[in-house]
Amino acid sequence: MRLRVQPGSSVRGTAWVPGDKSIAHRWLILGVMGRGVSRLAGVPRSLDVRSTAACLAQLAPKARPALDLWARKGSSTVEDGGSTWNVGTTEGPDDVVEVEGEEPRAFVEPAAALECGNSGTTMRLLSGVLAAVPIRAVLVGDASLSSRPMDRVAEPLRRMGAAISTSDGRPPLTIEGGTLHGIRHVVATPSAQVKGAVLLAGSGADGETTVVEPVRTRDHTERLLAALGFPVAIRGNEVTVGAGEHTAFEGRVPGDPSSAAFLVAAAALTGSDLTIEGVGLNPTRLHFLEVLGRMGVRVEVSVDRHEVGEPVGSLRVAAGPPTAPVVVSADELPLVIDEVPILALLATRAGGPSRFEGAGELRVKESDRLAALADGIVGLGGTVDVQGSDLQVGGDGLRGGSADGRGDHRIAMALAVGALGADGPSEIADIGSAAVSFPSFPETLARLGADVEVLP
Ligand code: S3P
Repeated sequence: MRLRVQPGSSVRGTAWVPGDKSIAHRWLILGVMGRGVSRLAGVPRSLDVRSTAACLAQLAPKARPALDLWARKGSSTVEDGGSTWNVGTTEGPDDVVEVEGEEPRAFVEPAAALECGNSGTTMRLLSGVLAAVPIRAVLVGDASLSSRPMDRVAEPLRRMGAAISTSDGRPPLTIEGGTLHGIRHVVATPSAQVKGAVLLAGSGADGETTVVEPVRTRDHTERLLAALGFPVAIRGNEVTVGAGEHTAFEGRVPGDPSSAAFLVAAAALTGSDLTIEGVGLNPTRLHFLEVLGRMGVRVEVSVDRHEVGEPVGSLRVAAGPPTAPVVVSADELPLVIDEVPILALLATRAGGPSRFEGAGELRVKESDRLAALADGIVGLGGTVDVQGSDLQVGGDGLRGGSADGRGDHRIAMALAVGALGADGPSEIADIGSAAVSFPSFPETLARLGADVEVLP
């Protein structure tokens, strides 16, 4: 699927975004591992979360009927390039999944390999869970996931006592779990997936498990474990968890701030007034607002409730378009790891060169995001330069043109939004990949007033 984008329209009004996939993965996992029936509302049917649900269904027979039913509801699928893209799905307000948990660690050995699709979070978090379960499981992924580094999770989990083999540091992963002991793990490359995997393993290990990060990444795992009654202690960039057992819980998954970032940017670029409601406002996810502020894009944040320890509320775009270029330093880059693509596209309109320093991790995301951004921005008629792991983006605007999402949801959506602020029309190939995190992205943009059209 392609998206034809005509500039000159305005994106305004009130919007909602699908549930946060980082949170949804973790709630589903802990829901399936707690005694009783957990009632989870707003679980997004994005493909990554479906991957987690499908893997859990293979491991947890009691939860299987509910997960299968949830995954089937209201969707149609088409095959594209080895991944199954889900088209035409909308998130409804009554989107509730009720999962019955197994006794902790009582998963059954899966009959087939666990298919993690495009989702690094599924593979890494489940590795942590399975490390403490006495079964053998094989985790596989699509072509993109199969090329991503897994030693960063395998190494600490092995030190805790699990037997894990990889294919030269990449998937498939074969895990034989068992009795684990706590460790202190000092993370070299900041990663919430690695921290999450080690903490989930630690929640079923003897003794305490501590993860030390160079900068504090998104803290959904520790928030959830604490909310469910596990012993969790946080000191600066150090998190310690002890073993525990938990019971079922209820909540509505907050909207995904990383998806909201695309709509915020669309409103800022088109100079419009937009409010996004029901968004997760966890501070470890909002550093992009700080960067936007430095670009002259002001966003008002208002927390109105909490869901299982996660703050939720609204974002209102109060001023745009970008008026100043930015430098995002290597220290802060991990805090905007998922928002670099959209920040880079906004930077094309910042009036001077912007720089994203130490962005090497972007090369091992769903695509080589540095290369994909460089090609995409050039394709849309902008200027860009990649030197080592630094990305420099020219701020004199985009002429319009054509670019390719390269099977990467965040690249496809960032290019589409960037094209809204171009001088002429554009076409973005592979917009279908948005379904990985935001299946209704093109429809949402159109409903808010953008002149966009999906083409086959
Ligand atoms: C995620 C962590 C981040 C992020 C990904 C989701 C998570 O990955 O890019 O989209 O839910 O833990 P890394 O841990 O590899 O930085």
